[in-house]
Amino acid sequence: MEKPDAPSCQRNREPILAVLRDHFADRRHVLEIGSGTGQHAIYFAAALPHLAWQATDRRENLAGIRAWLDAAALPNTPSPLELHVDEVWPTQRFDAIFSANTLHIMSWAEVELAFARLPEVMTANARLAVYGPFNYGGRFTSESNAAFDAWLKQSAEHQGIRDFEAVDALAAKAGLRLIEDRVMPSNNRCLVWSR
Ligand SMILES: C[S@@+](CC[C@H](N)C(=O)[O-])C[C@H]1O[C@@H](n2cnc3c(N)ncnc32)[C@H](O)[C@@H]1O
Repeated sequence: MEKPDAPSCQRNREPILAVLRDHFADRRHVLEIGSGTGQHAIYFAAALPHLAWQATDRRENLAGIRAWLDAAALPNTPSPLELHVDEVWPTQRFDAIFSANTLHIMSWAEVELAFARLPEVMTANARLAVYGPFNYGGRFTSESNAAFDAWLKQSAEHQGIRDFEAVDALAAKAGLRLIEDRVMPSNNRCLVWSR
């Protein structure tokens, strides 16, 4: 199978890796939600060999992820698992959860469900790192994010950049406390919570 390519992964992987180095240094098992192509998975797993990096996504993306994982042949990337927020979740628990560019693709109902179900897959001291664009105080942080939001909604009505405050409220309800909100290139953020 030809490996799928997400060029954004090349651009954002270094700044994301810097966050993971800080927050996942003492972690062991990462669950990645919405791995997409799997390019982040192999990059982060290679750079952070102390982690077992469990890639997941909806069933239709698993073959592409597997193609990247097979080509990289890393010892710390188990076979990708199906995770569909409103259908299938893994049965193990993880001490770290990572997700990039997913909350604006899921419907808001799916975002709510994702946070409601997170405690089932988290160990008692787990951390959650989420990368992507967010609004603050009901406003876009840039013109380019406003244009991106319009494009998302045009592509599918349920998509859209989420409000940081609303997402943080879901995290709080799931027993998570925000420990960092890092400004990232291209008007993105990396939000890190701890249980
Ligand atoms: C924009 S892509 C991001 C992929 C990758 N994380 C990246 O940064 O390149 C959004 C991903 O979210 C996944 N996704 C969307 N809705 C989902 C749901 N309800 N459950 C699980 N994954 C979902 C998609 O399958 C897709 O892989």
